Amino acid sequence: MRILTDFNDDWLFEGRDHVRLPHNAVELPFSYFDEKAYQRSFTYEKRFAHDPAWTGREVSLRFDGAMANAVVRLNGVEVATHADGYTPFVARLTEGLKPGMNHVEVVIDGAENPAIPPFGGAIDYLTYAGIYREVWIEVAAPVSIGRVKIETPEVLAATNRLTARIWLSNPQDRTLTGSVVATLKDATGRAIATATAAVTGADLTVEMAGLTGITLWSPETPALYTLDLALATPAGQDALATRFGFREVAFTSSGFHLNGKPIKLRGLNRHQSFPYIGYALGRAAQIRDAEILKNELRVNMVRTSHYPQSTHFLNRCDELGLLVFEEIPGWQHIGDLAWQAESVENVRRMITRDWNHPSIVIWGVRINESQDNHDFYLKTNKMAHDLDTTRPTGGVRYITDSELLEDVYTMNDFILGNEELGGNRPRTPLRPQAEVTGLDRVVPYMITEFGGHMYPTKSFDQEQRQVEHVTRHLDVLNAMYGDPQIAGAIGWCAFDYNTHKDFGSGDRICHHGVMDMFREPKFAAFAYASQAEPDEGIVMQPVTFWARGERNIGGVLPLMVLTNCDEVELRYGANPPKRVGPDRERFPHLPHPPVILERRHFTEGELGIWGMMWEGATITGYLGGKKVAEVTYAADPVATTLQVEPDAARIGRHDAVRVMVRALDQAGHKLPFFPEPVSITVTGAGRRIGPGFVPLRAGSTGFWVQATGPGEITITVSSDRLGVSVTQIIAEDA
Ligand code: GAL
Repeated sequence: MRILTDFNDDWLFEGRDHVRLPHNAVELPFSYFDEKAYQRSFTYEKRFAHDPAWTGREVSLRFDGAMANAVVRLNGVEVATHADGYTPFVARLTEGLKPGMNHVEVVIDGAENPAIPPFGGAIDYLTYAGIYREVWIEVAAPVSIGRVKIETPEVLAATNRLTARIWLSNPQDRTLTGSVVATLKDATGRAIATATAAVTGADLTVEMAGLTGITLWSPETPALYTLDLALATPAGQDALATRFGFREVAFTSSGFHLNGKPIKLRGLNRHQSFPYIGYALGRAAQIRDAEILKNELRVNMVRTSHYPQSTHFLNRCDELGLLVFEEIPGWQHIGDLAWQAESVENVRRMITRDWNHPSIVIWGVRINESQDNHDFYLKTNKMAHDLDTTRPTGGVRYITDSELLEDVYTMNDFILGNEELGGNRPRTPLRPQAEVTGLDRVVPYMITEFGGHMYPTKSFDQEQRQVEHVTRHLDVLNAMYGDPQIAGAIGWCAFDYNTHKDFGSGDRICHHGVMDMFREPKFAAFAYASQAEPDEGIVMQPVTFWARGERNIGGVLPLMVLTNCDEVELRYGANPPKRVGPDRERFPHLPHPPVILERRHFTEGELGIWGMMWEGATITGYLGGKKVAEVTYAADPVATTLQVEPDAARIGRHDAVRVMVRALDQAGHKLPFFPEPVSITVTGAGRRIGPGFVPLRAGSTGFWVQATGPGEITITVSSDRLGVSVTQIIAEDA
């Protein structure tokens, strides 16, 4: 049987440090750094003993991702090269292994190699060097299962069926005979069906038909199945389990359909980077990002801008029912023909890695925001369609009247804010489809970016700016919901991210997220979350710091409350309470328009009192007349509590966990302008990622703790003003 073993421990980095993968070659400060710091080459080495049990078997290293230009040598002999920084590769060791100790060396080069995507021009993100995903050693029979592609045609038929295309791996050129037994299992592991197929060549197909009782995969019921394959050939046995879902996707001129049902797509773009450590956070953090998108931001789609992302992330999207737009590496620039050929290969690598993820519903096969290029994009589209007939292609552009070679016209529509450039177009959230495409017919159409650089907003920006930030996201979502020709809209972006000097606020940060780099929400996060139905959780987030003098001229009106409640009540001082419903006039198409308390809701007298003194308030949310949410604000916030909140109390022995630190007032609200620093120490079975003495930004900061083995981890955070907080978490044995 095939044995896949963690090969991440004890690499020698630059001949100096013993490190565990995933690994980031150069740790960066939070901001204002020189991004050239990691743009050079680095060496990783590892010694390992030959295992006599490997004799007669195929041995290889599987790299999930290394940035970039990797060259792998076994005992001094080159066994693999892989330039792309986002896709996996295999180094076959079988023939170069010797008895006793062996030596593997991986040289990577973090320089921005103009010969491969996404490089050659400027890019608005960083491509942190390192072997930043996991590495595995795989030992298998000389003939093994190479790739599997599972398809579930006609999911709406009376019974279900599946086809599994199987490609064998046969590097020793053995004669191919034998059989494959396939067993379909449900999520509980119960076998539902089996099928057998004979091996007669390098690939074969297994089919199962007449399946009953299948639950289709969807955002609400992300039902997963596993196909277990057992291969027997004269060269030995192999087994591989592949997880998938039964589902069918279609983008039509009237929107997106899953299993025949329309779904409006409400999404956010995700970069895979984190502060300090760049790309190199492993499984737990990848999973957590998917959970944040689904459960906190409550979106139903994510775009993996602008490259294939971790399979841990995608696996979690499968489990959570979070739809994915996955795309190839690239940003605006198209290189020469060799560069383009490499990009076409990236389409192949992306699709063959990920075609069994039910969450992925569209492949991005254009360099993000590039100009038209007929020959090149014919090839990327053909590659995608040849490999996968079940998913449409999209090609993200910002240009209008662009040649449509893909199945879906995917558009970054940054029109909102354009009125600030002059001209006489009034404020427009999104352009009509026909104006963008220039086509005389309606085509499948989706908005893949908006917002972002048109209105960068820091978590610590003034309240009024944040209100406008929120309003812009709501305006676009409202326009999207109101236009049946738009399948959905994916905002730029989920999380702030470090970037090159050419972009962002000069601090090497694009403050474009609805969350900051630590995944702490800005108000705009709740523009998305509040659109979810209340049975998935009540959202009620007033867009205010509740301070009398924060806004121009003063006061807190108009006060927007992002909520899926059907009424919100404000109680302020001794005034009669005001109960107001969602503003359906301003946002007629949103599932849950915000409640906006305005001057018109108050009498002159009340407004007078409003202006005269400053008091605390209580805001209450009602659903069907029942109180379901309440927040109170103090008129006199004082720094009261240092909150230290790890995402989990127990973590895997190799996992990293995020810890948030917040300064709170007596009512439990973050103190948005509390700038005082905290010291952070981590002892025991874990280490801190990032610096140990940091300021709070917008009342909070975060950091990750990386487990270094099983045991107790003690996290101590101290503030001169707010005292010391000690938290213990456990790193488990597995
Ligand atoms: C887009 C681009 C994104 C990001 C964004 C900022 O043009 O595709 O990667 O740079 O602008 O708003």
